[in-house]
Amino acid sequence: MNVAIIGTGYVGLTTGVCLAYLGHRVTCVDSDPRKVDALRCGQVPFFEPHLTELLAEAKSNLNYTIDYAQAIPTAEVVFIAVGTPPGQGGAPDLKYLESAARSIGENLGQHFTVIVNKSTVPIGSGNWVGSLVRTQSNGASFAVASNPEFLREGSALLDSLYPDRVVIGAEDARTSEVLYSLYRPVLEQSFAAPVFLPRPDGVAAAPLISTDLASAELIKYAANAFLSLKISYINEIGNLAEKVGADIRQVAKGIGLDRRIGGRFLQAGVGWGGSCFGKDTAALVATASEYGLDMPIVKAAREVNKKQRDRVVEKLLDELKILKGRTIGLLGLAFKPNTDDLRDAPAIDIAQRLIERGAHVRAHDPIAMSRFREENPNLRVTLTAAAEETAIDADALVLVTEWDSYQELDWEGVARKMRSAILVDGRNLLDRERLTQSGFRYVSLAG
Ligand code: UGA
Repeated sequence: MNVAIIGTGYVGLTTGVCLAYLGHRVTCVDSDPRKVDALRCGQVPFFEPHLTELLAEAKSNLNYTIDYAQAIPTAEVVFIAVGTPPGQGGAPDLKYLESAARSIGENLGQHFTVIVNKSTVPIGSGNWVGSLVRTQSNGASFAVASNPEFLREGSALLDSLYPDRVVIGAEDARTSEVLYSLYRPVLEQSFAAPVFLPRPDGVAAAPLISTDLASAELIKYAANAFLSLKISYINEIGNLAEKVGADIRQVAKGIGLDRRIGGRFLQAGVGWGGSCFGKDTAALVATASEYGLDMPIVKAAREVNKKQRDRVVEKLLDELKILKGRTIGLLGLAFKPNTDDLRDAPAIDIAQRLIERGAHVRAHDPIAMSRFREENPNLRVTLTAAAEETAIDADALVLVTEWDSYQELDWEGVARKMRSAILVDGRNLLDRERLTQSGFRYVSLAG
C-alpha cells in the first residue's frame, strides 16, 4: 500500500521504517529540511538500536520530503505522528497536530484515504482531526482512525514488529479493513524477520483490538497510566521496604511471579522519566477534570514519582551532611538505557538540585552526552569521557541510568579514585555485596 507518515520522530520514523520493511511504499514528511536531507543519506536523527540498519534494508520502499503534495495525494493511509508536547495545565499542545490535519486536508487525493492518529492525542482528537481535514478537503473521501503505538524507546523496533497487540479505533468497517490489510504481516507474523531483530520465541500472531475511536484513544492513556502506577507502587513499597529492612528486589520478584500482577515494570528506583508517562498522566488528569472527574490514583502516582528524585538528594545529604563544595558524579543522563533521549530525565532534575545546593556535578553517559550539552547549555555539569572519570576526587556517585556497561565497571578502581567511596544506586542495579567488597558504602533508594 502507499503510506504517508507525517513527522519523523521516534514514533513516525519507526512506524515508517517498519512498514517499508514489511513491503509498503512509504513517504515520510517532516517540516525540517535538515532532517529530511540526513534521512535521505541514511542518517537517523536520534539513537535507537538497529533503526539505521532497518532503514538501510527498507531503503527502496522509503522516500522523504518536506512537501505534503508529494506524499498525500497518492497515499491510501496517512499517519499523523507529530509531536504533542506538554502544554498549559497538563493538556498537550496540539498545534502541530492541527497544522498537519489542515495540510493533509488540502492535499487529499481522489480515492478514499484513511488518516490515522498515531501520536498520543487527547480523547476526542479523532473527531477534531476529522473536522479540520473536512474544512480543507473539498469533499474528498476520507475517514479518521486511531492506532496508538506502544513502542518503548530503546526497543522501538522489537515493539513494533512483534507487538503485544495492535489497537485500531475506527467508526466504520471499511476503515478498519484498510488498516487490517496494512498490518496483516504483523498481525499474522508472516514476514521474514530481519537477521538483527529475530522473532522472539513464542511470538506467533499479534492480537487485534478493533474498536471505536474514543476507546482506542483511551486505551493508550490507560496503558501508560497503568505502567506509571506500577512503577510508583513499587517505589512506594520500596520506601517501606527500606524502613522494615526488606529487600525490594526480592519483594518485586515475589509479587511479580503472580501472573495476575506480572513481573515487568516493578523495578524500583528514581522513577520514570521520558516524554510519555509524565505527559500522558497529566493529560489523563486534565481530560478527567474537563468531565468533573478526579483521578486520585493517577495523581498519587505522579506525586510519588516526583518525590523519588528528591530522595536521591536526601540520601546524599544523609551521607555527606553538607553538599556545598562537594563533588558528585552522576552515572547516566538519558531517561533510560539504549536511548539518547533526555526529556524529563531524572538526571537533569537531580543535577539541578545538587547545583542549587552548591555541589559540583560531573556526569557521564555512553550515548547522550552531546545531546545533553546541546539541550542544556547553561547547566553547570562537567561531562567526562569515561564513566570512571566522574569518580576522581568525588564525594559520592549516583547511578541514575542503568546502562549495562555500568555493571561491568572496575568498582575497586573506581572506589580508589574517590575522596569518599559512596554510591547511591538510583536503579537498584548493582550488587550490594560486590560494591561493599570493592570498598564502597552502598546506598540504595529502597532498602
Ligand atoms: C512508554 C511505554 O512503555 C510505551 O509502551 C509507550 O508506547 C511509550 O511510553 C509512549 O507512550 O510513547 P518509554 O517512555 O519509551 O515507553 O519507556 P519505558 O520503558 O516505558 O520507561 C519509562 C520510564 O520508566 C523510564 O524512565 C524507566 O527508567 C522507568 N521505569 C520503567 C522504571 O523506573 N521502572 C520500571 O520497572 C520500568
